[in-house]
Amino acid sequence: MQSFRPENGKLSAEEKLNLLVEFGARISCELRLDKLLDIIAQQITKMLDVGRCTIYLKDVEKNELWSKIAQGRGLEHTEIRVPLNGSGVISIVARTGETINLPNAYEDPRFSMDVDMVTDFRTHSMLAIPLKNNSGKVLGVFQVANKADATAFDKKDEGILLLLATLAGSAIEIAKLYQDVHVAQLETIYRLAVTAEYRDQQDTRAHLKNISIISYLLALGMNKKDSELIKNASPLHDIGKVALADNILLKPGKLTPEEFEIMKSHTVYGGRILEGAHSKVLKIAHKMACYHHEKWNGSGYPKGLKGEDIPIEARIITVADVFDALCAFRMYKKAWKTDDAYAYILGESGKSFDPHVVAAFKKIYPSVRKLYANISVNQPQPQTSDVPVTDEKKNS
Ligand code: C2E
Ligand code: SIN
Ligand code: SIN
Ligand code: FE
Repeated sequence: MQSFRPENGKLSAEEKLNLLVEFGARISCELRLDKLLDIIAQQITKMLDVGRCTIYLKDVEKNELWSKIAQGRGLEHTEIRVPLNGSGVISIVARTGETINLPNAYEDPRFSMDVDMVTDFRTHSMLAIPLKNNSGKVLGVFQVANKADATAFDKKDEGILLLLATLAGSAIEIAKLYQDVHVAQLETIYRLAVTAEYRDQQDTRAHLKNISIISYLLALGMNKKDSELIKNASPLHDIGKVALADNILLKPGKLTPEEFEIMKSHTVYGGRILEGAHSKVLKIAHKMACYHHEKWNGSGYPKGLKGEDIPIEARIITVADVFDALCAFRMYKKAWKTDDAYAYILGESGKSFDPHVVAAFKKIYPSVRKLYANISVNQPQPQTSDVPVTDEKKNS
């Protein structure tokens, strides 16, 4: 994009419009806050032809302003924080909602050199304007520094930056709302999953985290675009266990065939709980809950689906789930050694598991092994005396 600098006088209405349209087009398709801030800073740096553009956002809870360092000394994406009630330029603009324009920053007592020190950047002129939402509430501060022609910022620059800030303000507010909703959704999913696993797991959080990570790596290894969704949905695969009675779920020994039949129904309950979900992540969780005990050769439950009739999300979670279950202590079994669990997964390729997923598991195993290296040492062991690593399962 061309840098935008009107030759003389004010911006014409048409120039303003073009500027806004172009800027708007570039920022409007980004909903991820981090990415959006990067794009806005880049665009403004180019349009105003300045050495640096920094965006500070309010963190109301902490009474601070934060920004990610965009360039300098390999500190990219490091967070800078400034107190909201501080005496520096950024704090004053955020508090008062007024513009501050310093032709020579280092000569003004309100300018703090802290950020320059960290980023190895020398601010000469700088302009800081408030970033407001549609209703005029201050969301943060836009700061630009060092015009390419080494002159001070003038009224025109202020006008352009304010104009761009108006548009950026709405985009940032939407991205923040979206992020809040997204975080709330993930948190809710996770807490729901913990509820379901709480009763029968020694270390619910580690278990859910490990399954999530393995599913994510497997999906990535298979180039699945929705690996992020698969990661976020996976903790819910056993949600149907909330419907099972203690005498079955917490039985210390082997289940009788009748009890195992009841146990199997956790897939059906999980399916009912997540039936008709609207969000992408819960739709995936629904497939996982229904089909995570189906087997590639058709011998699984609840439906006995075979091969690619089993949704890919379920074919992925089942490898993560079984591997983790083998490595974990349960009321009915002791923990297997990581490498023995790995050997079991490989041996079940084409039987319990999709060979493609097992191939991906082979690729990611070095990372998985590291993940499990730190756990399993202090796990409680069941009271039986027999030696590890025989397959003690009752069902074939
Ligand atoms: P889970 O404990 O989370 O195990 C999940 C899956 O990991 C099992 O699904 C099975 O495919 C695999 N797995 C776990 N331990 C072993 C093992 O020692 N050997 C082999 N070959 N595979 C293992 P599955 O069998 O459909 O069981 C589903 C759930 O039913 C289990 O989830 C567990 O909560 C319960 N369950 C299964 N068998 C027993 C049992 O004998 N006693 C009790 N109390 N619960 C059981
Ligand atoms: C400040 O004066 O508050 C900070 C200046 C800067 O970010 O460069
Ligand atoms: C997500 O990205 O985790 C959720 C998307 C959606 O709710 O559709
Ligand atoms: Fe299950």
